[in-house]
Amino acid sequence: MNGKNGESGFDTLAVRAGQVRTPEGEHNDPIFTTSSFVFRSAREAAARFAEEEPGNVYSRFTNPTVRAFEARLAALEGAEHAVATASGMSAILSTSLALLNAGDHVVAAGELFGATLSLFTKILARFGVETTFVRLTDTAAWEAAMRPGTRMLFLETPSNPLGEIADVEGLAALAHRHGAWLVVDNCLCTPALQRPLALGADIVIHSATKYLDGQGRCVGGAVVTGDADVYQAVFGVLRTAGPSMSPFNAWVFLKGLETLRLRMQAHSAAALELARWLEVRPGVTRVHYPGLESHPQHALARRQQRAFGGIVAFEVEGGREQAWRVIDSTRMLSITANLGDAKSTITHPASTTHGRNTDEQRAAAGITENLLRVSVGLEDPEDIKADLARGLRQWAPPAREIRRA
Ligand SMILES: Cc1ncc(COP(=O)(O)O)c(C=O)c1O
Repeated sequence: MNGKNGESGFDTLAVRAGQVRTPEGEHNDPIFTTSSFVFRSAREAAARFAEEEPGNVYSRFTNPTVRAFEARLAALEGAEHAVATASGMSAILSTSLALLNAGDHVVAAGELFGATLSLFTKILARFGVETTFVRLTDTAAWEAAMRPGTRMLFLETPSNPLGEIADVEGLAALAHRHGAWLVVDNCLCTPALQRPLALGADIVIHSATKYLDGQGRCVGGAVVTGDADVYQAVFGVLRTAGPSMSPFNAWVFLKGLETLRLRMQAHSAAALELARWLEVRPGVTRVHYPGLESHPQHALARRQQRAFGGIVAFEVEGGREQAWRVIDSTRMLSITANLGDAKSTITHPASTTHGRNTDEQRAAAGITENLLRVSVGLEDPEDIKADLARGLRQWAPPAREIRRA
């Protein structure tokens, strides 16, 4: 990661890994907008289809721009393989279809992103995959939920939006004692801040839609692994079922990766500043950010991560009405559920990202009506604070009246 033993450093890989120049000698990565590829002979076509010869066939499963993105992301995660997908959700679906069979059991964190939770409870359940949900941070609960048929442990760390941290090394050891895979969604940290495979995880999931792009332009995802069998199984799902990334999107993500570490450091620095500022604001009853010393897993976050990421959640006095007033008082922050953008965004998780979860699921995940989430962008931190201060004035002590004689 830091250029020792002749290995390129992280930033060099982010800019250079995976690029293959065509004979035209272009400096930038080319975009191959073609659905299929031409063979020099019938024999070559047959050999490519049968995977007896490397080379391009059809852009559902072989495209040079997509392959460049896969190679660059794999290098950044310290892995041999990556499969790019149409979205983060299709990365999770492809992994599940590749590794699970009817009758298999999954243990997953109850604090997962809403659509991931629904994928396990509403879709995979219909195909005979049963999931037990546990508290992300309670390693003993993960252990207690293991069964002979447990094939996969699935988590996000830090969790979204509360920034709770799982002990990846401990859970990898638990998974491996039971012959299961540990899958970590690394969307909030990206490899710039955390490399789960180095901590023992088997598979990393990305929603490239978030920080890998970094400017809110495209939807995409990826599955990253060092395990050749897992790679072949996920690639097989992609080839057959086709949740593929478009070459244009892959090109956008390639550009995003070039500045990933710089952006993640800037997001993290601004988020820490905002979290500290919020902690002492009247009307703010709690701030959730793993970079704060008050955060219950601060020490673990320090061990596992290079910095603490760009997501800050906070609770305000009152309920939904007061939380919505903070959102509606902003003028610059974008009211949108996306995160990981250069533009700061604000959302009310209980009525948006987690709105389709049941009351019990929301309660278990700590998603209360008075909770707000800010994805801290790259604007000046003073302007982000000023935008939030407007809505927070509802709790400021009334200005003292000055009576004139
Ligand atoms: C942690 C996490 N994982 C996965 C996803 C799904 O990614 P996508 O929207 O690219 O399908 C999201 C989306 O918000 C997310 O926040």
